Amino acid sequence: MNQSAEVYDKDKARSFTQTMLGIMNGGALSLMMSIGHKTGLFDVMDGEAPATSSEIAERSGLSERYVREWLSAMACGGIIDYNVSDETFQLPAEHAGLLTRRSGPLNLTVPMQQVALLGEVEADIVDAFHSGGGVPYDKFPRFQALMSEQSGNRFDRTLIDHIVPLLGIQQQLEQGIDMADVGCGSGRALSILGSAFPNSRFVGFDVSEDGIAAARQNSSELTNVAFEICDAAQLDPVEEFDVVTTFDAIHDQARPMAVLEGVHRMLRSGGTYLCVEPKASSLLEDNIQDPMAPFMYTVSTMHCMTVSLAYGGEGLGTAWGHQTATEYLTDAGFTDVEITGVRDDRSNNYFISKKP
Ligand SMILES: C[S@@+](CC[C@H](N)C(=O)[O-])C[C@H]1O[C@@H](n2cnc3c(N)ncnc32)[C@H](O)[C@@H]1O
Repeated sequence: MNQSAEVYDKDKARSFTQTMLGIMNGGALSLMMSIGHKTGLFDVMDGEAPATSSEIAERSGLSERYVREWLSAMACGGIIDYNVSDETFQLPAEHAGLLTRRSGPLNLTVPMQQVALLGEVEADIVDAFHSGGGVPYDKFPRFQALMSEQSGNRFDRTLIDHIVPLLGIQQQLEQGIDMADVGCGSGRALSILGSAFPNSRFVGFDVSEDGIAAARQNSSELTNVAFEICDAAQLDPVEEFDVVTTFDAIHDQARPMAVLEGVHRMLRSGGTYLCVEPKASSLLEDNIQDPMAPFMYTVSTMHCMTVSLAYGGEGLGTAWGHQTATEYLTDAGFTDVEITGVRDDRSNNYFISKKP
């Protein structure tokens, strides 16, 4: 008997078979749950009595045959309850809080849509494994819309109630300050702030034409909010802003240090920089028990890291972690970097630092 046969652990093999089946079913169900979100099926079942597939199809205005197959997948996956006696389906109240639009940032079917989006670039990512380089932003056509939905849910819940108090800038915003958001995407954060604080001026910067077009459209009523298309590694403003934010917009940059130096330059002395980045350690061994870590490293490989590499960038990756982030912020000139968090946003670290 060779050595590998001697140490072969049958229980471990059996247990891994279950793990593999769980992964396969989870992957399949994440696509179906993304469809459930997009079609509004979870929302029409929210708080409703048990109903047949025909009743649910009628309520949602969807094809019964598809709805029935989707309900079957959801029932087998333990997402929705099935009552065999009258062939009815019900969304349990205990599940609805993670699956419906009313749940805002707790609705996991929103980030789950990323699985389908990433699937669209699988072939390009496989090519990049062979040839190096990366997959550029224009290969992710629905990225800005998805990002806007995902972070918008969070901004609606956290920006005014938690983030503004965290920064201690409520009074300044009421009186009138200059605030910028770099890598602003579709501009939801600044639209919310712009309508809440009419005496302040807000400017968003992003390289994405789609993102800026959506941002301008979404804020067309607001005269104190503006958006500019620009490469954040070449920010022009010098000492023009009192507060600068970046939400999830440093780790996927091609040249993150140039962006941070630009942020530092654009702040007035004594100004505040809020850098929001995925909650992670720079060490794999610290992340390995994090229940969200497999998802984080997958999104990194298939989006955040690859878009940076596509432009000859550093490819920091989603899990660049608080240790590396703190080093970057310090090297860019920020002092007393404080790492904190906010309620309703468990997946991000909030780095608050000052320009001396
Ligand atoms: C993960 S998204 C976050 C968007 C937005 N802050 C939010 O939370 O919804 C990262 C954003 O950084 C932008 N971005 C990437 N590279 C950039 C660059 N070189 N200059 C300006 N923006 C850039 C992308 O277009 C994208 O909108």
